[in-house]
Amino acid sequence: MSRPHSTSSPEPPAPGPWWRDAVFYQIYPRSFADADGDGIGDLAGIRDRLGYIELLGADAIWLNPVMRSPMADHGYDVSDPRDIDPLFGDLDDFDELVREAHARWIRVVMDLVPNHTSSAHPWFAAALAAPPGSRERARYHFRDGRGPDGDEPPNNWPSIFGGPAWTHITDPDPNGQQHQGRPGQQHQGRPGQQHQGRPGQWYLHLFAPEQPDLNWGNEEVFDDLERTLRFWLDRGVDGFRIDVAHGMAKPDGLPDHDGWQSNKLLSHFDTDPRFNDPNVHDIHRRIRKIFDEYPHAVAIGEIWVHDPQRFAEYLRPDELHLGFDFHLALTGWDATAIRAAIDGSLAAVAPVQGTPTWTLSNHDVSREVTRFGGGPIGIARARAMILVELALPGAVFVYNGAELGLADVDLPDEALQDPVWTRSGHTDRGRDGCRVPLPWQGDRPPFGFTAATQGWLPQPESWAALTAERQLEDVTSMLSLYRSALELRRRRPELSGGIDWYGSPPGCLAFRRHGGLTCALNTTAVPVPLPPGAVLLASTPGVDTQLPPNSAVWLL
Ligand code: GLC
Repeated sequence: MSRPHSTSSPEPPAPGPWWRDAVFYQIYPRSFADADGDGIGDLAGIRDRLGYIELLGADAIWLNPVMRSPMADHGYDVSDPRDIDPLFGDLDDFDELVREAHARWIRVVMDLVPNHTSSAHPWFAAALAAPPGSRERARYHFRDGRGPDGDEPPNNWPSIFGGPAWTHITDPDPNGQQHQGRPGQQHQGRPGQQHQGRPGQWYLHLFAPEQPDLNWGNEEVFDDLERTLRFWLDRGVDGFRIDVAHGMAKPDGLPDHDGWQSNKLLSHFDTDPRFNDPNVHDIHRRIRKIFDEYPHAVAIGEIWVHDPQRFAEYLRPDELHLGFDFHLALTGWDATAIRAAIDGSLAAVAPVQGTPTWTLSNHDVSREVTRFGGGPIGIARARAMILVELALPGAVFVYNGAELGLADVDLPDEALQDPVWTRSGHTDRGRDGCRVPLPWQGDRPPFGFTAATQGWLPQPESWAALTAERQLEDVTSMLSLYRSALELRRRRPELSGGIDWYGSPPGCLAFRRHGGLTCALNTTAVPVPLPPGAVLLASTPGVDTQLPPNSAVWLL
């Protein structure tokens, strides 16, 4: 690995960019570690735990948004993209985090949210105060409503978080008196509802009403993003994960759509007009030109596009460096499906010789332990899958807590904070279950996460057995397995080159890296004979001639 940007002493040149086979550790800052005792994680908390990330063996951290935000969607509603939210600290804390991370050879990747702003962004406040057709409104998607009174939304798009993708506002009074709308508490676009005050336009928000979509046809929008990119890259940041990177461009005329299929968060179909408009590629080309001035930095797109050819378009040499691939994060415990997911991910980068990426979970989806059945079986399967994932060529993303074997937490209704819960009319519990603060040490909540009596979401008592402190001392723990696998992945030349599939019994899979490592997985309920080779690492202790159920192994 070549040394991160802002450190001084040189390293021998690496054969390719650092991110090509990097392990990124995803930190959900609210839930990682709280240094100031308010029950919410912060930058100083992350700084205090850099030693842990170094011990784990990650090459980089990706921080979910830490920019200024009213936190309607926990930071994905940005009101000032060039400042740190006081909840997490300030710019000095951030600079110090980057400095200390680099001193440990850990790179720092931020989250960038270009598709929308917060409704508290000064641009949006100005848009609400300005009349229809104004320059201020042109930065967003404002439209007149349909129907005789303009009382119906401009088109039939739903919001990803539930309800319509449009909110009706009250336009300013041309005689000077302004009736400023309050997003989120507005007329929610129910046709026929009576207005208080002056009926006005509607604005588009693919997510919550507090997240108005920017109009990427407006030059000011790109110019502002350029300022933001340079602001952080000049501070030594090593790249960005670009939120909703397939969503910025919108189809001309914002047409209605027939036959909505899935409207689930992040699993919409490729025919969905809200995403993947071809004009998005021009935006990525312009963004890439800026990145090219910072050659150490990586641009990673969140791209929920299923068709491999269309996915690959985002990774053309003049667009993004990496694209998040969610095949594995959506796959259950089935060897055929896992193999198909791996083939799908490889196919999605093949047309452009791009770098594959792998992720089992993140802050938007169920944790893998839960997805694989929960309890001891879920843990055994998650242990096996991390060996599969880390044996694959490309970049790997590990969501904080996965290395401790955490499962989703069944939270009581009153604890839920994800906007999905309210927007869905309390039918979808949202994503809080996978966002519960990490257990660090001790026997009871908050397990060293905070000095407050509890964290922003309650941790289960049962996590006493899963604290980082306990697992560091236990050579059989999930954390120890991660550490060993990451260490071997970094050091062993056998973990290099492409993969070839091996024949394997039903319910199993086996592949071999061109460098020489074989990885075998058994998803069945019975042991199967091991492929030839000496065991380098196994997800279950005592693997000898047989591969136990729910296990994986690395062989040389
Ligand atoms: C992305 C984020 C998700 C967020 C949404 C809106 O999908 O991963 O957490 O809610 O964008 O910004």
